[in-house]
Amino acid sequence: MTDTPDGVLATTLEEQHAEIRELIERLKRRSSGPSEDGERKATGSDTSATLKKLEAVLVDHFALEEKGKYLASASAIAPRLSETANRLLRQHSELLDQLRSIIAQAMDASRPEAAGTTLDKEIQRFTHHLGNHDTAENQLIQAAYFDDHGGG
Ligand SMILES: [Fe+2]
Ligand SMILES: [Fe+2]
Repeated sequence: MTDTPDGVLATTLEEQHAEIRELIERLKRRSSGPSEDGERKATGSDTSATLKKLEAVLVDHFALEEKGKYLASASAIAPRLSETANRLLRQHSELLDQLRSIIAQAMDASRPEAAGTTLDKEIQRFTHHLGNHDTAENQLIQAAYFDDHGGG
């Protein structure tokens, strides 16, 4: 097995990815309708709490990816990937902006019913965006560290 200097960092990032996926699933369940026991969707405060937790995890996660130069070192190994790596790094601030705007909407309790449908759509759009980012990132790392280093 190839041991890279990024091994520990990779483990931490992968743990964060798992936590992010879990929070996304929680948000998706929120927007997929009433739960099986007939209760209404999760309350606004549950959703706000999950969104804020996701924001905190993402702030740490993106900082680690950027500071650890994980994507940058991937593109150093495989220069053909540098354009993709830069695009993914730029998406971090876009994703945080999008999430913070959703949090502001979720916390605006002045018109909860009207906001509900809009919020569901925004959350779906965001989780889709984040899911695509995650997938592209994993593919990039795979391509840089494993495909290009396949010969060991
Ligand atoms: Fe990322
Ligand atoms: Fe990531």
